[in-house]
Amino acid sequence: MNTPRRQFVRTSLAALASPTLLKAENKADRINLAFIGPGGMGTNHIKTMCKRTDVTFSHVCDADSKRAETAAKTIQELTGQTPKVVTDMRRVFEDKAVQAVLMATPDHWHAPGAIMAANAGKHVYVEKPCSHNLREGRLMIEAAAKNKVCMQVGTQSRSTAACMQVIEKLRSGIIGDILVTKTWNSQLRKNHGHQPDSEPPPELDYDLWLGPVPKVPFKSTYHPAHWRWFHHFGAGDFGNDGVHDIDIARWGLGVDQHPNRIIGQGSKLFFDDDQEWPDTLYCAFEYDIAGKTKQLIYEQRDWSPYVQEGHENGCAWYGTKGMVIGGKAKGTWEIYGEKNKLIEKITGTGPDLAAHHANFFDAIRTSAKLNADITINHLSTALCHLGNIAARTRSALVFDPAKEQFAGNVDASKLLKRDYRDHWAAL
Ligand SMILES: NC(=O)c1ccc[n+]([C@@H]2O[C@H](COP(=O)([O-])OP(=O)(O)OC[C@H]3O[C@@H](n4cnc5c(N)ncnc54)[C@H](O)[C@@H]3O)[C@@H](O)[C@H]2O)c1
Repeated sequence: MNTPRRQFVRTSLAALASPTLLKAENKADRINLAFIGPGGMGTNHIKTMCKRTDVTFSHVCDADSKRAETAAKTIQELTGQTPKVVTDMRRVFEDKAVQAVLMATPDHWHAPGAIMAANAGKHVYVEKPCSHNLREGRLMIEAAAKNKVCMQVGTQSRSTAACMQVIEKLRSGIIGDILVTKTWNSQLRKNHGHQPDSEPPPELDYDLWLGPVPKVPFKSTYHPAHWRWFHHFGAGDFGNDGVHDIDIARWGLGVDQHPNRIIGQGSKLFFDDDQEWPDTLYCAFEYDIAGKTKQLIYEQRDWSPYVQEGHENGCAWYGTKGMVIGGKAKGTWEIYGEKNKLIEKITGTGPDLAAHHANFFDAIRTSAKLNADITINHLSTALCHLGNIAARTRSALVFDPAKEQFAGNVDASKLLKRDYRDHWAAL
């Protein structure tokens, strides 16, 4: 079922010379893409992607019919195209003309949706965190490999020029051997209060929205957008904003494996509301690599929008000959050498969504490497899951990176996967 990829490898020389953007008039060479879950972030994707002339927007699919209609209208206004409007993603997967999907649903749908899409031969751009739990990430890797489809994850800093530049500097050895990296996520989040169970709004097919997760009563805080603060649907702010920062930190540290040891401490120090994940969290990960040990540290304060080293969210890499400090939002990175001498400042832009889309389409058309392939993001998203598990079980955890299992902690092991209800999308 990998026809689209082969088809595009056969494309014209002109297209190969400029693979990211085919001429609008080459309708046959456009990629047919369906948007699944065009909510808050999905709308950002639509607005950015509608500037491209090499994509046909075949469908918009949302469990919330109002949101699906709004998305279709936006696409119509921006491109003149009229995508089909559906609520059930199976209608997208069964359409042979669809070559790629963009999944911007809540996290609990990422793996079930992406795996079904891959099994139907579609290339997938799936939002971060790639999975709701660690097991799902592994299943996504297997599905992408088995079906030979591209699976890009929405950590767009991986395609952002300034970020790529700072990583290149780190790889060149500019600060020596990097032994420790620290990343922080500090900002003021919202208090959601205490909401009673209620009826879902009439435009929302709540059963579809829940999908394969256990059937729990609706709360107005779940939809839209605030589902991420609840265990059933998201991974708290670690999986939300933290995953971007820890992904950059791990990338710069240069580790392509899971950690061996994890500690975590997390609680609600500030918010008195229904949110289930900690507003304050500290995790430390230790990696054993070829006889050496490296450490990665994550800090989160969801009530403290005060900058650290000039950045609300940032990263610092500590090497034997210097240090690099910066943040993805401003796109600025400072490189310090011995005696705290500022050697260089990299000044760029914030995260570049358009470049990440371009990388996805290049990979489909030309077999270019995906910058945030599922195999890459699984390692970063896993840190969110592992840190969250350490904090939830209040344990110091020993992890087997190859088996993706804890050594002898039954409570922690249970949280590496989830229970599904009897449902067509259960994994
Ligand atoms: N890359 C980034 O910088 C970035 C930024 C924000 C959010 N995100 C990610 O985007 C995703 C969506 O977040 P959001 O804030 O837009 O949430 P949201 O709740 O606003 O949007 C999610 C949409 O998915 C729809 N949906 C739910 N179940 C569905 C189903 N079965 N079929 C079709 N549609 C379904 C919902 O109705 C909703 O419209 C999350 O994974 C989030 O982590 C990424």
